[in-house]
Amino acid sequence: MRFWGRKRTASGPKGLWAGFVDIHAHLLPGVDDGVPDWQRCLALLDACEAKGWKAVCLTPHVMEDMPNATARLQRLFDELQVRYQGRLSLHLAAEYMLDLLFEERLEKKDFLPLAKNRVLVETSCYQSSLFFDRLLEKTLSAGYFPVLAHPERYAYLTEAEYARLKEKRVGFQLNLPSLVGFYGREIQKRSKWLLRQGMYTYAGTDTHSFAAWERLVEAKDLERHAECLLPLIENNKQLFENE
Ligand SMILES: [Fe+2]
Repeated sequence: MRFWGRKRTASGPKGLWAGFVDIHAHLLPGVDDGVPDWQRCLALLDACEAKGWKAVCLTPHVMEDMPNATARLQRLFDELQVRYQGRLSLHLAAEYMLDLLFEERLEKKDFLPLAKNRVLVETSCYQSSLFFDRLLEKTLSAGYFPVLAHPERYAYLTEAEYARLKEKRVGFQLNLPSLVGFYGREIQKRSKWLLRQGMYTYAGTDTHSFAAWERLVEAKDLERHAECLLPLIENNKQLFENE
């Protein structure tokens, strides 16, 4: 595509954050380890808008340890839309741990996809999960495409395993904080490698707090990766186009 062939930097008015659509954020208050209250939720949304963002998809954790019911998340999101007076477009999805609760929700079709049949999923950062392959297959068989959150954080995955997941049509979502070293040098290295290999489809912030968000949007290092990041950011936008 000619547009992406042009040399661009993130520092101008068309930088990385102009019109940004975040597909991964823990901003629904009080439901997980993200923002704890309405005040901080609304302040963060205002800050995103001031930064030039266009949309945020709120993705609270759903897992056996945080079994957020779909109906409760939907009620809170409805309340947010009443309270929020800004111009960002807001969406609700969830980040599903690939565990037995997800399997149950998948079977009942009781879950919140991102958009266009994409479901944001995660797995353990510490060890490979017995359920991983089976639940990815089951998601695909149900007609949904899993988007694996922060694959760079699963340090036990080998190059061959990343390639195998891509062949299975599992989308990869880069956590932008990984790229600037928020989770340490090893994960940063892994994220740079995956980015260079063209493995990622989307990029999200995985914001849990105002302080982490500020550190990320002020990180100068992100600009150096603008050429690789802009197509991912475009994919984020297209995912929520007409939604
Ligand atoms: Fe997350």
